[in-house]
Parts: sequence; C-alpha cells; structure tokens
Amino acid sequence: MPGTVIVGAQWGDEGKGKVIDLLAERADAVIRFQGGNNAGHTIVHGGQTWKFHLIPSGILYPGTTCVIGNGVVVDPGVLCGEIEDLRARGVDVGNLKLSANAHLIMPYHLLLDQEGEQKLGKNPIGTTRRGIGPAYADKAARLGIRVQDMLDERILKKKIAAALEPKRQLLRPYAREIDLQAITEQYLTYGHRLEQHIADTAAIAWRALDEGKHVLFEGAQGALLDIDHGTYPFVTSSNPVAGAAAVGAGVGPKDIDEVWGVSKAYTTRVGAGPFPTELHDDAGEEIRQRGHEFGTTTGRARRTGWLDLVALRYAARLNSLTAISLTKLDVLSGFDRIKVCTRYRGALDEDFVTDTFPYHQSVLHHATGEYEELQGWTEDLGECRSESDLPQAARDYLAYVEEAVGVPIVMVGVGPGREQIVWTERASGSAIAGAVAGAAT
Ligand code: IMP
Repeated sequence: MPGTVIVGAQWGDEGKGKVIDLLAERADAVIRFQGGNNAGHTIVHGGQTWKFHLIPSGILYPGTTCVIGNGVVVDPGVLCGEIEDLRARGVDVGNLKLSANAHLIMPYHLLLDQEGEQKLGKNPIGTTRRGIGPAYADKAARLGIRVQDMLDERILKKKIAAALEPKRQLLRPYAREIDLQAITEQYLTYGHRLEQHIADTAAIAWRALDEGKHVLFEGAQGALLDIDHGTYPFVTSSNPVAGAAAVGAGVGPKDIDEVWGVSKAYTTRVGAGPFPTELHDDAGEEIRQRGHEFGTTTGRARRTGWLDLVALRYAARLNSLTAISLTKLDVLSGFDRIKVCTRYRGALDEDFVTDTFPYHQSVLHHATGEYEELQGWTEDLGECRSESDLPQAARDYLAYVEEAVGVPIVMVGVGPGREQIVWTERASGSAIAGAVAGAAT
C-alpha cells in the first residue's frame, strides 16, 4: 500500500499541516524528511489549536508512528519543549521516533545564522534564524553532530571540539557564549531526555512499507525554496521536493506511489527573493488580512500575490505531482475578479514572454506576471462540503487551475477547521484520499 509524499508546491506555508493531519488519521506512519524548526504547522484539532515546528503532524493520533527522519536538522531544545507541551496537554508521545542519524542544530549554528544575515547587510535572505543553513553546512562538511552522538559523552565532546575549531575566528565575538564543556553537558541532558525516542527510523519505514501500510512523507517549506531548484540563493538549505523524501527517510524511490502538492489558491512568500506575482496594493493587503498571512515561526507578515501558474506547473513537474490540494479557497471570496498568472514577462527585454519557469536568476528576478482574469464569487465557502456546494465561479476557478497545471485537484480547503474541506470527485483516483474521504462520508 502506498507511500505518499506531501510537499509544498509554492514558497512554503501552503497549509500542509492540515492536509497531513487529515491523511495521518488513516496512515500508519508519518515521516518528516527535511528542514527543521524553520517550519511551522498550525492544526485545528479537537477544538484546540496546535502549532508544531519539528514534531510530525500525525502526533495527535496514538496509532500513527511519527518519525523525525535522518534528513531533518533537529534543535533538541525545541524538540524537548514540544514534547513537554504535548504531554502537558494530555497527548502521549510514545509514538514519536527520532532518527539516530539526524543532524543536530547546535548553539553556534544559531549564532552563525544571525551573523550571516547581519553580514549581508541590506540584502539578507530573511532566514528564520533557527540555525538551519549552518547545521546543513556542517553536515556537508562532515563536521555535523548527530542525534546518536548525544548518547556518548566522549564522542560528543570530541566532535563538538572538532566542529568549533574552523569557526573560531567567526565566533570570536561570542567567545563567552561558546563553552565546550557547557554545550556538551547540555546536549548530554537532551540525549538523556530524548533517548526513549531515538531509533533506526529507516527500518521503521521499511517494516511499515513491507507490511503494506500507509506511510506519509511530510515535506516542510516548498519547491520554490529548494536549494537546487528554488530561487537560489533565496532558498532554504535543504531539498523540500519529493525526491528528497527517499533520501531523508531512508527508502527508495519505488516506495513512493503518490505525490501530493499543496498550494494555496493564491501565493505567499516570507523572506526576500523573487516573487513575480507579488501585490503591493489593496488586493495584496486584503489577502494578507483575510488569510491571516503572518508567519507561524517568526510572526513576520507574509508577502502576498495572485496564484502563479508558471511556478505551480514547475512544481508539478519537479515533484511528479499526482494530486493537488488547493488550500484557502475561501480567502478569495468577495473579490469581483480573480487574477491568475499564466506567463512571465521579462522587464529587461519587453518582448520576452515565457510560460515556463526561467532557470536564469536575472530573468526571474525581473519577471512580472501576465494574468488572465476570472470571475469572482461573493458567497462564504466555509460551509461547503462537496463540489456541488461551491458557487459556479469557484468551480470554474478549480477547473481552470487543473487544466493549466495538468494535475487533478483532489482536496480543497474552505476554512481553517479540520472539517472545512471539500473532497473532489478526482479524489477517488488516490488510494489514501479514497481511504480518508470514504471514512468521512
Ligand atoms: P531558513 O530555512 O531559515 O534558512 O530560511 C531560508 C528562507 O526560507 C527564508 O526566506 C525563509 O523565510 C524561508 N523559509 C524557511 N522555512 C520556511 C517555512 O516553513 N515557510 C516559509 N518560508 C520558509
């Protein structure tokens, strides 16, 4: 039975948490495969609001094994905090497993992230300052500290000392904060607290897949923030695309049967970098206010714009999307006309028009959107539960997007609540959607 990857098809914050929460009910395991606590998932579940940065979204189901895979970078202090919060709210976290091979975010990674952003002066990337980039840099340089290292004092101390050595110069202003002994002791304590969760998580994934169980691979961030395929250098330091699910969880590509891309009905971005459909007018502000477009992790106001079909087609191809979950359609209620970007025009060369995502950064940085205008609708969509409940103009919007991207929309978000979704008829083509939608009707 299927391995299903859920990825962001835009610049992150697409509402993956809610989609994964819904699917996780029918899944036997949920595995995070990249990123760290730069992510933020908000879930409204059992009348309560939950915010997770590291813990997989399936944690609220005791029967679902939740895995933080080898590809994730883990801040153990943040993880311990999330575990404690869950316990305090009565959630048993016995189903949480942490890969022994995942890399750790260390206190010096946080300092280096801040320092890096300050050095960029007026043109920072706008990172979440959670130490993500420096932690992945150490991993690539083979100077990383892994989860398993927290279980052995001698190895831990030796590895931290080796990792600090080449950074001495850079960390000189923070000399007082960087104490080898203190960091070692702190991380040994984390190791002790997390020990019961540490496991060979690839083997957990293999067992579940071999037994024909549903396994979900939970992506963080989005395709356009991918370090290889996104808007480099304004990207995160991992691969949020579906191909990375195999690497970051320890399975092979043939273990993946479905790939769902989550996209908002419009576009947002946090941090710097090109955004061809960005709005700087009242419509952009209206989307921000109605969609509550403020970051879960940093509280920053998100940049907003119309749906970008050039970028969405690119994400569909990069990830081999088999399905789209279109979220926050309700936010577009009340706009007379709704624009969708179908092509980019180059500002440097007025005659340059493209409907494919430009590989060259100079083209992309100056591109602006060309739009089709579709009819809007005024109805509140919050109570819609089937396609036939949606106003005709909203259905036309879905049909337009599906046609333009060439991927079926299986699920539509019509409000923040767990029940505020519409399963489309195309959901029957997806094994996991069939299982969840079937159970819901
Ligand atoms: P970093 O991942 O903290 O290094 O930040 C790099 C870029 O990715 C910045 O533009 C961040 O705003 C963006 N980013 C990182 N995580 C997320 C996320 O979960 N949602 C949206 N943007 C993100």
